[in-house]
Amino acid sequence: MNMPINELLYKKINSKVYPFHMPGHKRNSNFLFYDIINYDFTELEDTDNLYNANGIIKESLKQISYYFNADESYFLVNGSSGGIIAAILSCVNENEKVIVSRNCHKSVYNALILSGAVPIYIMPELTDKGMQGGISPYHLEDIIKENKDISAVVITSPTYEGFCSDIDEISRIVHKYNKILIVDEAHGAHFAFSDYFPESSVSKADIVIQSWHKTLPVLTQCSVMHINGNRINRDKLNKILSMVQTSSPSYIFMAYMEKVFCILKYDNSYFERYVYNIRKLRSYLKEFNTVELLGNELIGKYNIKDIDFGKLVFCINSDINGYEVDKTLFEKYNIQIEMSSLHHITLITSIADTSESFDKLYYAIKTLDKKLSYNKIEYNNIDNVCPNVITSPRKAFYTDIETVEIKKSVGRISAETITPYPPGIPIIAIGELISENIIETIFKYKENSITLTGIQDKSLKKINVLKNFQER
Ligand SMILES: Cc1ncc(COP(=O)(O)O)c(C=O)c1O
Repeated sequence: MNMPINELLYKKINSKVYPFHMPGHKRNSNFLFYDIINYDFTELEDTDNLYNANGIIKESLKQISYYFNADESYFLVNGSSGGIIAAILSCVNENEKVIVSRNCHKSVYNALILSGAVPIYIMPELTDKGMQGGISPYHLEDIIKENKDISAVVITSPTYEGFCSDIDEISRIVHKYNKILIVDEAHGAHFAFSDYFPESSVSKADIVIQSWHKTLPVLTQCSVMHINGNRINRDKLNKILSMVQTSSPSYIFMAYMEKVFCILKYDNSYFERYVYNIRKLRSYLKEFNTVELLGNELIGKYNIKDIDFGKLVFCINSDINGYEVDKTLFEKYNIQIEMSSLHHITLITSIADTSESFDKLYYAIKTLDKKLSYNKIEYNNIDNVCPNVITSPRKAFYTDIETVEIKKSVGRISAETITPYPPGIPIIAIGELISENIIETIFKYKENSITLTGIQDKSLKKINVLKNFQER
């Protein structure tokens, strides 16, 4: 019988490749708590109801809210994506404006399509190494002053690479104008468990969404949303959560989150050991220049207020690029990383990583650094292009499209959202005007062999645009 999924997973498990990627349990059996069949329940009279929690779910969430400094928390059972979509749908109505950090996850762009909201983008500052830094609170204030009719602000902090914006200041500004602040803290669920990590945004924003599965030892999809203050219509949010998530929530997910939360709340030793190991690893890795670990030097620059030291982001200053380093780590050192790009690699660590796994990583990086010749990379920083939003992503999504030659597409409206990695900030999104500058930027990324996602024609000869578009 052909079972391609089973066959591949079986092969991967037996190859003993070590995961420096999510999920945060790292397949470490110390965090395997259940024989899953026995814990796989459905909503019964005594097992409570996720969207009308009044029993065990409510009681469990109360402890989580208290610990995280939230008024209320919700279990999310299909990842942060569902929570982000529900958060935006609950706060922003059709044709209303929302300020969005341009480096947001695709779930935010999807929420814009579903809600019919009109985005006003704020660009994160780029670092000298071409990565997305933080959001300037002062620039944000200027945008709010020009757009007093916005409904909400959506910021991603930390970024995929673990860079945090100044959420204290951002929150002060957003709330001064009595607007709603939504923070995508998908990569920061572990922050609240140790002072070594940046401060969580939970107590500062109106809604914060965390993917627990990325950095805590729980199963993929396990996530939590936290609410604070009285700007959020909680009944509406609850209804929308029930619209965008399953009506059969997994009790295995909820039990897992509750269990891991309780273990970490009462037993500091997991985070103490992890922080000890990360500090040690970082101090050893500091000496390498070819495979260069980013760290403290970024704090206070590029609007980066703090960084997550648990994310290991290396710049590859060599003739070989990030994709090749990724491949070498996999093939020669049995290490699978989270993400690679032309000049960077990103690894995710967690409390489930052992000191042996950190030793394995140190040995691999040390050997690679010795083998590779140093080559100072000129980070060909391509400017952030400020988007010209012609119509809401929703109107664009429901308009007929046609495919045209990219070189002849100036003046047309894009039906595609094209994103280079890095920095993971779209050059153009659906509903935006294609200009000469945009096309030049697309080609510059291509010349630099930077991966572009979201464009159907990978050869970059054609682009999908709106057909016969008229503003309605
Ligand atoms: C910044 C950010 N936000 C949100 C998400 C979505 O999270 P989830 O996979 O839990 O739906 C991701 C996923 O990678 C992400 O990187």
